[in-house]
Amino acid sequence: MVGTGYVGLTTGACLASLGHRVVCADVDVAKVHRLRAGHVSILEPGLSELVNEGLAAGRLEFVVGAAQAVVDAEVVFLCVPTPMGAGGAADLAAVESVIAEVRTVLPVGCVVVNKSTVPVGTAARVSALLKRKDVPVVSNPEFLREGTAVRDFLNPDRIVVGCDTQDAAERVAALYARLGAPTVLTDAASAELVKYAANCFLAMKLSYVNAIAELCERLGADVADVTEGMGYDRRIGQSFLQPGPGWGGSCLPKDTHALVQVAGAVGFDFPLLTATIDTNTRQRERVVSKIRHAAGGRLRGKRIGLLGLAFKAGTDDLRDSPALAVAELLLAEGAELTGYDPGVRGEVPGVRVVDDAYAAVKGADVVALLTEWPEFRCLDWSRVAELVDSPLVVDTRNHLDPDALQRCGLTWWGVGRGPANPLQVLAAVV
Ligand code: UDX
Repeated sequence: MVGTGYVGLTTGACLASLGHRVVCADVDVAKVHRLRAGHVSILEPGLSELVNEGLAAGRLEFVVGAAQAVVDAEVVFLCVPTPMGAGGAADLAAVESVIAEVRTVLPVGCVVVNKSTVPVGTAARVSALLKRKDVPVVSNPEFLREGTAVRDFLNPDRIVVGCDTQDAAERVAALYARLGAPTVLTDAASAELVKYAANCFLAMKLSYVNAIAELCERLGADVADVTEGMGYDRRIGQSFLQPGPGWGGSCLPKDTHALVQVAGAVGFDFPLLTATIDTNTRQRERVVSKIRHAAGGRLRGKRIGLLGLAFKAGTDDLRDSPALAVAELLLAEGAELTGYDPGVRGEVPGVRVVDDAYAAVKGADVVALLTEWPEFRCLDWSRVAELVDSPLVVDTRNHLDPDALQRCGLTWWGVGRGPANPLQVLAAVV
C-alpha cells in the first residue's frame, strides 16, 4: 500500500482485517513511526482500532518508502494524493514519482492497482511508465466517505475493478471476496470513469437540491417536505438530498473540475457539470447574502459566530470546506469572525477559533451554523440567547430545531423553508 492518507491507511487496515498481509509505505518518516506505535492522527471512527489489531496480529506493517513495501508484494496499491493541478486537471506527480521508484523492484507478475482518483487513461499511462510487460495495471476506485470510511470499506455498495487483462482484474476482485459485494469487472477506462461519474452525479444532485431550496424560499414551499416527497421515488432515493452551504471536501470539488478537464480533452462540452460547479459557488454567495441580511444589510464590523468549520460533520477536514469559503467572503466584507468546530483545533486564517460553541456565539450579531455536528442540536439555546448581541441564527443546513430556538427568543433562518407570502407568489406565477 503506497501512501497512508485517508484512502491508503483505511484500505490497508481493512484489507489486513480481512486476513491479508499488508505493508503500508509513506515518505513521511515521523508518520511511519507514529503508525508503527499504533497512533492514527486521522479522525476516522474505527480506524485506530483496526490499525492496532492489524499490528498486534502481525498482518499490518509500516515502512518508509515505496520500494521497501513492494519487494515481495502480489498486489501494489497506489494511494497517493492526486490534487487539483493547474486548470483543474488532476496532478499526477506523486503517482509518477512512485512508479519511478518501484518499477525495477516490482516482483515478476505482480499487479499494480490505481486506488487514487486519476483521469481516465491513467492505467494505460502508468503501464507505459512502468515498461513492465509482466505487470498489469488495474483501476480499483474507492468510494469511501470521510468519517465513515471504515464502515464504507467493510460494507461497500459495490466493488469496481477495471483492467484490460481479465485475470489481473479477477485477482484484485478476489481480495474483497469476503465482503460479498456486487462486483463490476470491466476495462480500465470504464473503472476510472465510474469514480468520476459517481462523484459528479452526487455533486449534481446536491447542486440541484440547493437550487430547489432557493426556489422553495421564493415560492413559499418547504424544501424538507419537497425532498421527502422526491426521495420516496426509488429512482431518486432519500440520501444526498439535504440542502447546505454547498458541497466541499477533498473529493467532490476536485473530481468535478477534473471531469470537466477530462471531457474537454476529448472535445466534449459538459454544461451540466459546469452548471453544477457554478451553482455550488453561488450557494456560498447565497449563504453570505443571508448572513448579511440578518446583520442588517452590512457586514463591516459585524461579529459573526460560526458553528462548524469542517466540510461536513464527523471529520476534522477543512479541505475545500464551504464553511471556510463562506468565512472568506464574510471577511472580504469586513466581518469579524469567531468560530468553533468540535473536530478542528489550530489556526484558521481570519477566524478566531475558540474551544466551545458558547465562546463562538458570545457577543455575535449573527450566529451561522455551517457544519451539521450533532452536538449543535443539543446546545443550551437559552444560554446562547443570553450570550448573543442579536438573536439571529442562520442555519445553513436546516440542522436545528426551529421551535426550540424560537422558544428561547431566537430567530431561526433556515434554507428553503422561507416565509414567502402565498398571495404574492400566486400573483407572480399566475
Ligand atoms: C465523497 C463521496 O461520497 C465518496 O463516495 C468518495 O469516495 C469521496 O467523496 P466525502 O468527500 O467524504 O465523500 O463526503 P460526502 O459525505 O460525500 O459529502 C460531500 C459534501 O456534500 C459535503 O460537503 C457534505 O456536507 C455535502 N452534502 C452531503 C450535503 O450538503 N448534503 C447531503 O445531503 C450530503
